[in-house]
Amino acid sequence: MKKILLLLLLVLLVSNLQHCVNGKQQVPCFFIFGDSLSDNGNNNNLVTKAKANYQPYGIDFPGGPTGRFTNGRNLVDIIAEHLGFNNSIPPFATASGQEILKGVNYASGAAGIREETGQQLGDRISLDKQLQNHQVTVSNIKNLLGNNESLATAYLNKCIYSVAIGNNDYLNNYFMPQFYPTSRIYNQEQYATVLVQQLSQQLLILHNLGALKVALFGLGLLGYTPVELTMCGTNSSCVDNIFNAVTLFNDRVVTLVNDFNNNLTNTKFIYINTTEITLSSSTNRSLYSFWDAVHPTEVGYLVYGARAYRAMSPVDAYPYDIERLAQS
Ligand SMILES: *[C@@H]1O[C@H](CO)[C@@H](O)[C@H](O)[C@H]1NC(C)=O
Ligand SMILES: *[C@@H]1O[C@H](CO)[C@@H](O)[C@H](O)[C@H]1NC(C)=O
Ligand SMILES: *[C@@H]1O[C@H](CO)[C@@H](O)[C@H](O)[C@H]1NC(C)=O
Ligand SMILES: *[C@@H]1O[C@H](CO)[C@@H](O)[C@H](O)[C@H]1NC(C)=O
Ligand SMILES: *[C@@H]1O[C@H](CO)[C@@H](O)[C@H](O)[C@H]1NC(C)=O
Ligand SMILES: *[C@@H]1O[C@H](CO)[C@@H](O)[C@H](O)[C@H]1NC(C)=O
Repeated sequence: MKKILLLLLLVLLVSNLQHCVNGKQQVPCFFIFGDSLSDNGNNNNLVTKAKANYQPYGIDFPGGPTGRFTNGRNLVDIIAEHLGFNNSIPPFATASGQEILKGVNYASGAAGIREETGQQLGDRISLDKQLQNHQVTVSNIKNLLGNNESLATAYLNKCIYSVAIGNNDYLNNYFMPQFYPTSRIYNQEQYATVLVQQLSQQLLILHNLGALKVALFGLGLLGYTPVELTMCGTNSSCVDNIFNAVTLFNDRVVTLVNDFNNNLTNTKFIYINTTEITLSSSTNRSLYSFWDAVHPTEVGYLVYGARAYRAMSPVDAYPYDIERLAQS
């Protein structure tokens, strides 16, 4: 059974990777916001426990550990490859000069939509701070393009922006009542509502900085990550409880996608539906998908990234996938 699963996975990967080997770059730039699923080195010089620039992280990455929270490439590395980028998108912490024209990765392990999220682990770059960093990049790009406002805006309008955040607002906030009061202040419905309201304000800032093509990632099945399975033990209602909280959030994000598409002209927001991808692509999650207590392996990201880019099932992406977003 294990061998068959691995074989299936390999066939899937090879067939999915083939189309991007000779692919040309589909968009001029790719900007990345998020948490440890996307971070590629922004936490390396922060004072935090949420770091991954040491072995065994990166054991399958050329050159070793980089700050990616997995053994090899992470989610956005895979998506960048599918989009035809020859190199991964540089982290904000080290990006400089002309390379920012290809995009910048602002993601930070332990970061959340809420400012306080993840603070029990130490420093992190919250989504608000990531947006401030993007403001710096946008003004540098304007300079690089000769301070021609309309040229810079037209350029930024063509880029893809990915936002994969919210996991820590649950894992490292709401479901940690010993450190955070949010679960006493809000029931699950209220918490999902305030989170998505805040996200909506943040996305409006991103939009005002020129983002028209935005891919939002739904939250994964947090209840099934090894860390939560350990916390819940054999208590299945505990796992269901986490799953329900996450579903409330995801449902509101889909509504937000519709709102942005309806309210703002020329704006294209899409939603990547992690639920189906996680459930169907890895029968034995404990064995193949997770690298540590919360992070998928590169193999997990290969499948996730491939399906976010080109949907395999109609529910993978709404209203369409990243490939179509790039072409739109
Ligand atoms: C990517 O690399 C290929 C092969 O080396 C090259 O032909 C192509 O021009 C490069 N594309 C970009 C956008 O740099
Ligand atoms: C800005 O760039 C646009 C498009 O390339 C060009 O038509 C316009 O003349 C430029 N404006 C200035 C002030 O250089
Ligand atoms: C199981 O989890 C539920 C939901 O989190 C909780 O209310 C209940 O007390 C837990 N039961 C046990 C035996 O720990
Ligand atoms: C979009 O418009 C609807 C209806 O007017 C409104 O309720 C909603 O808040 C707006 N959403 C955004 C993201 O602008
Ligand atoms: C997954 O693999 C682990 C380790 O081999 C095993 O203990 C577990 O029973 C498997 N779970 C399923 C659902 O097959
Ligand atoms: C996401 O996937 C789940 C599981 O297949 C499905 O129930 C849900 O309707 C999907 N959501 C969207 C917005 O497509």
